[in-house]
Amino acid sequence: MSFNQSVIDEFRANQGKVGGYFEGSDLLLLTTTGAKSGEERTVPLGYVRHGDHLLIIGSNLGGPKHPDWYHNVLAHPLVEVEIGADSFEAVAVPAEGARRDRLFTHVVTTEPGYGEYQENTSRVLPVVVLERSDPAPGEGPAEVRSLADKLVEVHVWLRGQLRHVSAEVDAYFETSAAYEGEGAAPAPGLGLQIRQHCLAFCQTLEIHHTGEDAHIFPAMEAHNPHLKDVFERLRTEHVTVARLQGELSSLLGDITDADPERFRKELARMSEELNTHLDHEEEALLPLLAEVPFPPGPPAA
Ligand SMILES: [Fe+2]
Ligand SMILES: [Fe+2]
Repeated sequence: MSFNQSVIDEFRANQGKVGGYFEGSDLLLLTTTGAKSGEERTVPLGYVRHGDHLLIIGSNLGGPKHPDWYHNVLAHPLVEVEIGADSFEAVAVPAEGARRDRLFTHVVTTEPGYGEYQENTSRVLPVVVLERSDPAPGEGPAEVRSLADKLVEVHVWLRGQLRHVSAEVDAYFETSAAYEGEGAAPAPGLGLQIRQHCLAFCQTLEIHHTGEDAHIFPAMEAHNPHLKDVFERLRTEHVTVARLQGELSSLLGDITDADPERFRKELARMSEELNTHLDHEEEALLPLLAEVPFPPGPPAA
């Protein structure tokens, strides 16, 4: 068994407490999706708290290359975090520029070892903020007991992420408009923060709609043949949303070159189309899904 795997097993068996080399240090488990393999990878990592967020550092022990998990979160920003006995989904957002430097100063003040790693390499060590991505309290169903609750939960998350990205894009434009030549100019592209949130949103949306097209719709349609037209319309809306999502994702390919005006326009179109679709879907499907238990129980004997 690898060293990492033995640490992971010990962590999970003892609610996050690990002895030996890591005794007494703050440790979390980060599960990412492989940038090339698409497979899940879990690594134990040190972390530093900063307000509500957790910071992880791409130190690679001061080695010359960024660690694999850093490349993974750039490709797939949505990650799973285990800390103590708790686990949650988060969006991984590398900090940039002056913010990165401020956060790194905080990291080194808390854990001076990271300062030594930085001295050992010419790389600027990435500081990655883990932002918990659960719906805000009061949003979404308090308890998921049916497939209807599950659908609403995912929709609430998607609506929330889309609002979040739109707010970030608005803030970006306000900062740019307010700049009058004093101090550092705003970055020309949209920045990693917007990219990471938008990518997390697009990837979750794609998984959700693929699941609806492949499983939920066919199963429901088989039981409700009179709703054929409703499913036809929802499928057509998926195709429209997928096209807009593809355009958004391609704009994010090279974030430093992304045209902010175009991005903002595409995002507004996506918001309109998607919100309309989610409303249609909830209106048509929630009454039918309210009776279906979630998570699915064992088949009746
Ligand atoms: Fe949906
Ligand atoms: Fe849908």
